Amino acid sequence: MKKVKWGVIGAGGIADRRTIPGMMLSQNAELTAVMEVTKEFADRIAEKYGVKYSYDNEDDLLAKPEIDAVYIASPVAAHYGQAVKAAQNHKHILLEKPLALTTREGAELIALCESENVLFASGFMMRYHAYHQKAKEIVSSGALGQIVSMRAQLTCWYPEIAGCWRQSFAQSGGGSLMDMGVHCIDLLQFISGAKVTGVSAMTGTKTFSYDVEDSASLLMEFDSGAFGYVDAHFNIPDNAAQCRLEIYGTKGSILADGTIGQAEGGQMLLTVSDDDDLEYSAIQDRGQNGGIAIEAVLGNMYEKEITSFGNSILNGEKVEAPASDALQVQKIVECAYQSSRERRMINVK
Ligand SMILES: NC(=O)c1ccc[n+]([C@@H]2O[C@H](COP(=O)([O-])OP(=O)(O)OC[C@H]3O[C@@H](n4cnc5c(N)ncnc54)[C@H](O)[C@@H]3O)[C@@H](O)[C@H]2O)c1
Repeated sequence: MKKVKWGVIGAGGIADRRTIPGMMLSQNAELTAVMEVTKEFADRIAEKYGVKYSYDNEDDLLAKPEIDAVYIASPVAAHYGQAVKAAQNHKHILLEKPLALTTREGAELIALCESENVLFASGFMMRYHAYHQKAKEIVSSGALGQIVSMRAQLTCWYPEIAGCWRQSFAQSGGGSLMDMGVHCIDLLQFISGAKVTGVSAMTGTKTFSYDVEDSASLLMEFDSGAFGYVDAHFNIPDNAAQCRLEIYGTKGSILADGTIGQAEGGQMLLTVSDDDDLEYSAIQDRGQNGGIAIEAVLGNMYEKEITSFGNSILNGEKVEAPASDALQVQKIVECAYQSSRERRMINVK
């Protein structure tokens, strides 16, 4: 089987924790080169995974003709420059979220990749979670009726860490919303097939002293007419939040705990009303069982992400998480920040 030869830029963070292990499982991927900020660091990663080349700069990695594609998982401020060079060197690109510090930079990258004829995907790996795929199937089958309300939550505990790029606006472009909320917004749009048209948000730094938000709550309107709610926090302990996903329609609901995150786990419950002529009941019985457990075979989202983009490169299959979707999500985030500053609802265009 032909394999995509991958180079990884910024190999020591999430790449080492999750994506490279997923890449090692993928049948159509071959990890060929890694780059880190020092040669010693890059060598350590290369040795760990048995990789042929290791570099302390992206130029040498990108100059290798045998590399077909790069996975860029460096801090956000480095994304734009590295993705520009990768496209100019005709490497297909899987770029972590957010695409760049601003949507202007993200749009430039998309235009460049088109003109250089390279494929450009974003790191929305949660789309590949078996439960999220199942939820999308159920919603599109119409089983939940008209979707009226959705919610997604992603939080962690993230106190001040000296020198941390994520806690500096200049290096990250934003805090809990830009870093984690983007996955939630993407999932609601992905599962429902609807697009956000308006957002009303509150963002702020309530607990810590860094210059990005540690708290964000968004109310959104979708083009389907549904309403949605996303909350993303850096100030809720990891064991205090289940990172809930909730989809409600006129005929039922999907309620999930623990599916939004880096491990493909959690549980998802489905409730569907089989009564076509549902009437008002003053008793408002909620039932006891909370729904039927949805069955799905769980795997590794990062492996699926790499294999999927590999199939696009090798076989021309549709890019499942295109960069254009990440750009549109980042536009929503920028509108949310504006909404919070101006204390009003913003239309997303
Ligand atoms: N999809 C996911 O599951 C997921 C999870 C976490 C982070 N991310 C994204 O991945 C990216 C990196 O986040 P992280 O958590 O791995 O951060 P991190 O700080 O843990 O790791 C970043 C790595 O990049 C290296 N680095 C620093 N400057 C660099 C440069 N100029 N060029 C190349 N490498 C450089 C660092 O040495 C470090 O090893 C961000 O865009 C983040 O949003 C995605």
